[in-house]
Amino acid sequence: MNSQSSALPNYRFCVAPMLDWTDRHFRYFFRGLSKQSLLYTEMITTGALLHGDAPRYLAYHELEHPLALQLGGSNPDELAACAKKAEAWGYDEVNLNVGCPSDRVQNNMIGACLMAHPTLVADCFKAMQDAVSIPVTIKHRIGIDGRESYDELLDFVGQSVQAGCKRFIVHARIAILKGLSPKQNRDIPPLKYDVAAQLTKDFPDCTFILNGGINTLLDCEHHLQTFDGVMVGRAAYHNTYEWATVDQRLFGSDTPIISREQAFLNILPYIEQHVKEGGTVQHISRHLLGLAQGFSGSRRIRQLLSVDIHKQPAREVFDQVLTYLQSSDVNG
Ligand SMILES: Cc1cc2nc3c(=O)[nH]c(=O)nc-3n(C[C@H](O)[C@H](O)[C@H](O)COP(=O)(O)O)c2cc1C
Repeated sequence: MNSQSSALPNYRFCVAPMLDWTDRHFRYFFRGLSKQSLLYTEMITTGALLHGDAPRYLAYHELEHPLALQLGGSNPDELAACAKKAEAWGYDEVNLNVGCPSDRVQNNMIGACLMAHPTLVADCFKAMQDAVSIPVTIKHRIGIDGRESYDELLDFVGQSVQAGCKRFIVHARIAILKGLSPKQNRDIPPLKYDVAAQLTKDFPDCTFILNGGINTLLDCEHHLQTFDGVMVGRAAYHNTYEWATVDQRLFGSDTPIISREQAFLNILPYIEQHVKEGGTVQHISRHLLGLAQGFSGSRRIRQLLSVDIHKQPAREVFDQVLTYLQSSDVNG
């Protein structure tokens, strides 16, 4: 799965699965900034994949590799069938979601509620891994309400390790399943990086990717002293250009750093093609706001891409964006 140009594994820097955000368009855009990062799809439930329009969920652009498909489910046979689809479609990894706290998914035994069922998760993992030869990984929390002790976390991870799991993504806070919304569950329970770090000591043969509250490359460099990789969610989406130096700083690449203007120019033919195939400009423009943060004119660019794009011809909006991006202070 590693790309040829670096000896370091792609999971050293991952972009988190985010429903409605990390669709194929955002992933393509992000890939324009970093060739090495490992990208994750939004969570797709086994039900959607087995009974819905599978090609719609699974299609992606070849340039998105290395790419992991995240699944939500708790039926081992269904998860195995979906893992097979992931492999057949050329995904580089399949990941099981044991971190999502939403009520909707809890009712279907999907996501963080599965932390209360370590044996079932281990069975799910085993069924998936037996079905495919690509890596199967687990993304989980450090606990849930009522199951917050380190011993319970050890038991959870330990059972999956016994079943053969070697790579875990640890969102380093618990999920509170009763009383908090998914959004609150990404901020209110405190981050406990020390708990995630303890896992690296207790399972030295496994690979642990740290997730939660990582906002800058400096944060990444710090955490990479303890963890095998980092996974960034909201900051990758809201401040996308921050990550234009990931390949150089975290993977040792000596390729030139792309400018904001070039990153924007590169997405234009992709948008054109999408529109030719029947899509809309807005499907993609909504994902580009993270290119414009923290310089004079950035607010106007975000407004152009989120408001004006619905009222004016796209060509005119894009020309204005380009004019702002060509001003001298944007890449500083
Ligand atoms: C809009 C949104 C959607 C998300 N959807 C998923 C998802 O589909 N699967 C998942 O495992 N986590 C999902 N998450 C959680 C993120 O993957 C990540 O664990 C969380 O945001 C913490 O990382 P961060 O602090 O870097 O954002 C979502 C987060 C956001 C903000």
